[in-house]
Amino acid sequence: MRAAGVTEFGGPEALHAVDVPEEHAGPGQVRLRVTAATVNPTDTHLVSGAYAGRDPVKEPPFVPGMDVAGVLDEIGEGVDRPDLELGARVMGVVVPSGSHGGYRESLVLPAGSVVRSPAGATDVEAATLPMNALTARFSLDLMGLEKGQVLAVTGAAGAYGGYVVQLAEADGLTVVADASEADEQLVRDLGADVVVRRGDDVAARIREHFPDGVDGLADGAVQDALVLPAVHDGGAVATVRGYRGTGERGLRVYPTLVRRVAEDRAALDRLRQQAEDGVLTLRVADVLPAEQAAEAHRRLARGGVRGRLVLTF
Ligand SMILES: NC(=O)c1ccc[n+]([C@@H]2O[C@H](COP(=O)([O-])OP(=O)(O)OC[C@H]3O[C@@H](n4cnc5c(N)ncnc54)[C@H](OP(=O)(O)O)[C@@H]3O)[C@@H](O)[C@H]2O)c1
Repeated sequence: MRAAGVTEFGGPEALHAVDVPEEHAGPGQVRLRVTAATVNPTDTHLVSGAYAGRDPVKEPPFVPGMDVAGVLDEIGEGVDRPDLELGARVMGVVVPSGSHGGYRESLVLPAGSVVRSPAGATDVEAATLPMNALTARFSLDLMGLEKGQVLAVTGAAGAYGGYVVQLAEADGLTVVADASEADEQLVRDLGADVVVRRGDDVAARIREHFPDGVDGLADGAVQDALVLPAVHDGGAVATVRGYRGTGERGLRVYPTLVRRVAEDRAALDRLRQQAEDGVLTLRVADVLPAEQAAEAHRRLARGGVRGRLVLTF
């Protein structure tokens, strides 16, 4: 089966076409004929070898990719899912390991990681939803803010940050989000109530609008300690690359790891519904054939990609 992966870790150029064995859906699993796989920042870390130590599989090829969409083509034993029938257009979250990753034309996943794609969405659009929206949902759930409380979001123009803004608005929170000048309208259109200029001084800019500090902050820009001063004593912070804070001022810092909720089918299905209802916007930056995975990684590394780059099979 066709896939894009690495046999030797490195930069984008390490990604190339690889052949992976065909797999079949076992008990509790389903198989997708993948037509679209997104390119996420975390994929670049897998390609560089940063995750090699924690992957129990040590044999190449290593195939990156954490969300996919396509057609359901096998249903394993014991999968009791009236919403899934053969031929259904579906999307799924992938926790990569070895050659099990999103950049492959056929992929077996736990049934809980797969739901129907939003009605009316193309596979390319649908692929942009599951992993980042689920992470955004998990961050919000970890912080547990109440309706009417104030949430700050950094990296708000990004895939994760954008979904945090939209889900938080839907939850009834007041959202203050960062943006460059060029992204200001984009972030307003996502629904942010207040937009401040992004940068190292973002916490001070947030405090200009909320002098007592915000109740929670989702740090999609991965600014770690720089953003903590935006939050009032005892407030909540969701981080996405493992930052745990310093224990200062009673801040509750929640590292968000999407792999912990990757089989939360009910949450994924709610996100599908919210996309159908127009609460969540599916943003595609560009579409490239899977053979051009290395080029997609080069573009991601340059920064400034808005919406997701999507590989097609
Ligand atoms: N732990 C998990 O389970 C999990 C799940 C999903 C995502 N993540 C992580 O979450 C982070 C965001 O992911 P994403 O997909 O949303 O990435 P993205 O789409 O590239 O968005 C990141 C945004 O932050 C901006 N940014 C980068 N550095 C900044 C800085 N120093 N100050 C202000 N803004 C800055 C980027 O702008 P430019 O493009 O202009 O640089 C971009 O708008 C990544 O590190 C990703 O690996 C973790």
